[in-house]
Amino acid sequence: MNEPSVALVTGASRGLGREVALRLLARGYTVIAGMRSPEPLMDLEILTLDVADEGSVRAAAEAVRTRHGRLDVLVNNAGVLLDAHLGVLEVDGDTFRRTLETNVLGALRMAQAFAPMMPPGARIVNVSSGGGQLSEPSTWAPAYCVSKTALNAVTVQLAEALKSRGIAVNAVCPGWVRTDMGGPEAPRSLGQGAASILWAITEAGPEVTGGFWRDGKPVAW
Ligand SMILES: NC(=O)c1ccc[n+]([C@@H]2O[C@H](COP(=O)([O-])OP(=O)(O)OC[C@H]3O[C@@H](n4cnc5c(N)ncnc54)[C@H](OP(=O)(O)O)[C@@H]3O)[C@@H](O)[C@H]2O)c1
Repeated sequence: MNEPSVALVTGASRGLGREVALRLLARGYTVIAGMRSPEPLMDLEILTLDVADEGSVRAAAEAVRTRHGRLDVLVNNAGVLLDAHLGVLEVDGDTFRRTLETNVLGALRMAQAFAPMMPPGARIVNVSSGGGQLSEPSTWAPAYCVSKTALNAVTVQLAEALKSRGIAVNAVCPGWVRTDMGGPEAPRSLGQGAASILWAITEAGPEVTGGFWRDGKPVAW
């Protein structure tokens, strides 16, 4: 019998990351839940992981290699929204840098650390946002939106770099979801947001790579 696929979800302590991790567990994956402050959660394998910290990411990769020898699914979900109430003319450099550190470099360093142990057929999903669409400009949360635009660009770069190894890399928008980040007014449930992310893992064909998706449909860059 085949071993279950091994999936790692970053930012799995709450919100969409937690929901995606639990849904993958229910589908029979071996699920590693990356958390900055580890707490037991059902049968998830808890891993201390701060994606903004190079050493933490390196240690996590080493732990997964030792325990499992491979990674089949990486969900780069961890994200911060620090400038929801700031405009582009007000946002300070520190806020901008901290946003990019987690939302862009966090996902990039995770891909760099884990790609060497990903087999053909593996998938990387970067949880992005419609806020990153250059085709739909807005004045809301400039650092956050720029970080998601950059994450989309990183997604395309990674997809090209990993194509020859048969590893698919996609960006997914979960829609506006009721989480700590999305707030109570958001129209979508956790389940709806998680389903949008799950699509890129369990439903998209292995040839689907380098795209930006919501609910299994392409989103304009
Ligand atoms: N909710 C929405 O409407 C919406 C819409 C579009 C895109 N998204 C994206 O979906 C993803 C999840 O959002 P959410 O709504 O579930 O947000 P959330 O409820 O605020 O949860 C964010 C998660 O990210 C973790 N995190 C933050 N910085 C981290 C770091 N440096 N290292 C590891 N984990 C870190 C948090 O961990 P702690 O518990 O330790 O803080 C938490 O688990 C984000 O990438 C977000 O941009 C959300």
